[in-house]
Amino acid sequence: MRNALNKLADSVKGDEKLRNIFENQLDSFFSVFRRYLVEKSSGNTLLWEKIKSPTKEEVIDYGSLKPTHDDISNLSKLAVLKLNGGLGTSMGCVGPKSVIEVRDGNTFLDLSVRQIEYLNRQYDSDVPLLLMNSFNTDKDTEHLIKKYSANRIRIRPFNQSRFPRVLKDSLLPVPSHYDDALDAWYPPGHGDIFESLHASGELDALLAQGREILFVSNGDNLGATVDFKILNHMIETGAEYIMELTDKTRADVKGGTLISYDGQVRLLEVAQVPKEHIDEFKNIRKFKNFNTNNLWINLKAVKRLVESSSLSMEIIPNQKTIKRDGQEINVLQLETACGAAIRYFGGAHGVVVPRTRFLPVKTCSDLLLVKSDLFFLEHGSLKLDPSRFGPNPLIKLGSHFKKVSDFNTRIPHIPKIVELDHLTITGNVNLGKNVTLKGTVIIVCSDGQNIDIPNGSVLENVVITGNLQI
Ligand code: UTP
Repeated sequence: MRNALNKLADSVKGDEKLRNIFENQLDSFFSVFRRYLVEKSSGNTLLWEKIKSPTKEEVIDYGSLKPTHDDISNLSKLAVLKLNGGLGTSMGCVGPKSVIEVRDGNTFLDLSVRQIEYLNRQYDSDVPLLLMNSFNTDKDTEHLIKKYSANRIRIRPFNQSRFPRVLKDSLLPVPSHYDDALDAWYPPGHGDIFESLHASGELDALLAQGREILFVSNGDNLGATVDFKILNHMIETGAEYIMELTDKTRADVKGGTLISYDGQVRLLEVAQVPKEHIDEFKNIRKFKNFNTNNLWINLKAVKRLVESSSLSMEIIPNQKTIKRDGQEINVLQLETACGAAIRYFGGAHGVVVPRTRFLPVKTCSDLLLVKSDLFFLEHGSLKLDPSRFGPNPLIKLGSHFKKVSDFNTRIPHIPKIVELDHLTITGNVNLGKNVTLKGTVIIVCSDGQNIDIPNGSVLENVVITGNLQI
């Protein structure tokens, strides 16, 4: 492997700076790869018996944080970062996920920009917005943020690393030279944020500006807004890392949870759980809350840990199939997650936040929710309609609604759902204008048929299958 990586590095001709960056990325890749082989052969896994629920100090409740009355003095120490390396492929879109239109003509990126811009205007501050792009998203993102150049916001895009995919059988790198096709490479997960902040020079630049805290969140979490209570709590306690958790419902069995292990707080992901304990892991009484990936991170600590090569987060092997020269080949990519870094930071702990801070859009079912009258838009933030009580409705749209383009064609006008509890739609279904859905609504259309819900329909506690209504 080392020889193959050296050859890859040699394929950069002429440009010394580029070669250095590339070489550093290949070194980081090699260290992850070596660690993967060692861990695989030693079966290095967590011992289930040693896993304990976190202590009262390791996970605290948002309600117990001191009220702040908008104490803005710490804003000068803050920078905000959106993870922007991912594509919109799972929602049937090409290009970065952050450019999908989510609300009133605004993309994810527009909403993030509007939030920070408003914050800066309101408090006369200069909080920068960093975007961690990948080689998959950088060009489109750069192009899109041009429109904000005259706005009151400093947007700082930088790239995360580009690692070579590995052939599953021979464990050799897929690319043979620096300019090899895009599918020969991968962005190594958001755990790469620490290295990339450092390597890009953004970390030193932020520290030089007196920025101490970085608020990181997924680009698709519309609930991740700047919160003064958490910011001030972080500064007062001197904690180097805070993870926002939220209570699990039966629908969130997948998210990682915080555990106490050898006296240390750690993230436990479902992939690390032995098969025989999966049910226990999903049990919402034992593991009550999960990681929202809203993280507050001390930048000086990041510098210390990166420069001493102290971060070795759990490796998540991800297998894929790609097509090369007309043949399907199995490849492996080794990823890490930024939540797993929690155990390396001093005073790190979790804060259980209200569900409103976790509003991810992973599917078109989520898209229906955030586009609906359940929310209204205020300065780039989605606010819940005050007349709504209880949890958000459970929405399940079938495969006919997987792509955003299909969703927009089938539901060109978003129905009113303030009084909805549960919606399931499967099959060839189209909704008309001014439709209202209340209670539990189930619309199931069999293959070869179609159901058109007429304009102005009010559906309350109904099951509709073909022409049959119950
Ligand atoms: P995903 O959307 O891929 O992950 O990325 P997920 O499984 O739903 O959520 P996590 O991993 O449990 O948080 C989450 C965010 O991280 C970015 C994506 O763009 C998205 O905003 N991301 C992911 C990167 O920036 N780089 C990566 O290599 C992977």
